[in-house]
Amino acid sequence: MNNTPDVAVWQAFDHASESYDRVTLLQRESADFLFKLMQASGEFLPAHSQQWLDVGCGTGAIAKKIAAQQQQVFALDQSPAMLAHVIGLDGVTPVQGDIRQLPFADQAIDRMASHFALHCLGPLIVSELCRVVKSGGVLWLAVPVQGSFASVHTRYPDLPLFDFLPAEEWTSTAAAQSVEVVSVTEKCWSQPFNHLQDLLHTLKLMGGNRIGRAQTPVSMSQFRAWLRDVEPITLEYQVLYMQLRVL
Ligand SMILES: C[S@@+](CC[C@H](N)C(=O)[O-])C[C@H]1O[C@@H](n2cnc3c(N)ncnc32)[C@H](O)[C@@H]1O
Repeated sequence: MNNTPDVAVWQAFDHASESYDRVTLLQRESADFLFKLMQASGEFLPAHSQQWLDVGCGTGAIAKKIAAQQQQVFALDQSPAMLAHVIGLDGVTPVQGDIRQLPFADQAIDRMASHFALHCLGPLIVSELCRVVKSGGVLWLAVPVQGSFASVHTRYPDLPLFDFLPAEEWTSTAAAQSVEVVSVTEKCWSQPFNHLQDLLHTLKLMGGNRIGRAQTPVSMSQFRAWLRDVEPITLEYQVLYMQLRVL
């Protein structure tokens, strides 16, 4: 795994910290879904306090929900502007740090959550996540995977957007760790946009405009032509939800 701080990733989120909550409708729906999965598995019953770690917490979508269940949550993010949103919240302790080198001792944490934060890091990150969770502890990981941006890829195949990995790469890498894969669920979230320019602008406001690899170089005139397209277009996020128990 590359441990060089990927400044471009968290800086994009730093710049998007003010607009993030306003434009991330799909992420909110997905965070609600992840939280319902946790509740349905009896995660907060009985309601004794556990030490949670939310990695890539952003503005705290998941950390806030968990803390509201009388749990203690470390909310970790590399972006100071994102972390500012969780400062002062009851039960939430902000931690600035890198997911790739978590500033926690081995087996320090009872429970972990991560929502929409691991896709830029790749599935090998699961080993570092498991390192800090106690034996018998549970990780809830929600990762956007291949199938995301499907409509954009179909209509504009050469537009270099982020390349999401297949869900299978995440599940097989997770299964190769010292964990029991307790449950795996996939769900697609979609939102209509007036046209491509509108969609790309929203991606930028949510900090998610990091581009992928162009198969063929894209000329500026081609890019301008795409931006003039006024046909409605849908944004999809295909999301993998994994519940892992450390052995
Ligand atoms: C798409 S946001 C998701 C935020 C939140 N979990 C949510 O569901 O709304 C991804 C977050 O991960 C953080 N992040 C990305 N790479 C990181 C890294 N290597 N270490 C720590 N935080 C990172 C970004 O700064 C950003 O706040």
